[in-house]
Amino acid sequence: MSRTPLISGNWKMHLNHLEAIQLCQKLSYELARHRYDQVEVSLHPPFVDLRSCQTVIDADRLEFKLGAQDCHSKDSGAFTGEVSPTMLAKLQVSYVIVGHSERRALFGETDEVVAAKAAAVAKHGMTPIVCVGETLDDREAGRAAEVVTTQLRGSLAKLTRAQFETLVVAYEPVWAIGTGRNASPEDAQDMCAKVRTVVNDIRSGAGEQVRIQYGGSVKPVNAAELLRQPDIDGALVGGASLDAVQFARIVQAAA
Ligand code: PGA
Repeated sequence: MSRTPLISGNWKMHLNHLEAIQLCQKLSYELARHRYDQVEVSLHPPFVDLRSCQTVIDADRLEFKLGAQDCHSKDSGAFTGEVSPTMLAKLQVSYVIVGHSERRALFGETDEVVAAKAAAVAKHGMTPIVCVGETLDDREAGRAAEVVTTQLRGSLAKLTRAQFETLVVAYEPVWAIGTGRNASPEDAQDMCAKVRTVVNDIRSGAGEQVRIQYGGSVKPVNAAELLRQPDIDGALVGGASLDAVQFARIVQAAA
């Protein structure tokens, strides 16, 4: 089965809406000759930038998919400061990152919370990018596979069989995020293969379809070797996604 690679830019809490528009335009310039039938690209700006980016993508007919970095699990309600999946769907958001390690570590998100968010995203016709990954302590204690398995079982618990068909999982070792220290292609491949096996155990047959991204200090220098691994179907890119030239080179490495 051939899986179309997905390269996602997670802008985190960077860029106001004017800067976001500029980055969309610079990226479209850098990727002008790119074949989008070979690689899918999603951009995940902060919530306040979404409408501006969506307008640019629409008006200039850019081939990027719009993405969000998080959302609440409920459609509406008294949840001050939160953004619902229905609001994102209305903005033509295609992909929503859920359970990023920064959300888990800094905002106390449990697998149960992540599962509810993933199900809510899928219910509204968008695709969740469900993040999992071990800490350095876990890895050094030989617990990496066990931790990732537990996160997957918890975080994917509420998805239906049909929702597994479009699912994206991002394997992001916590110690590699924003540190400049990426997992070796071999270690990343091993864990992504493990993720595929676990997804298949949860829903038999889903393992072949699920797209698995590697994330954690993906840069132009290491992208090609990581993306060449048989079980790595794309990348979730943080720092390097804020630079149009670097991000375009990562997309090209996937093509
Ligand atoms: P990084 O971030 O590429 O800056 O390591 C990846 C992520 O947090 O998704």
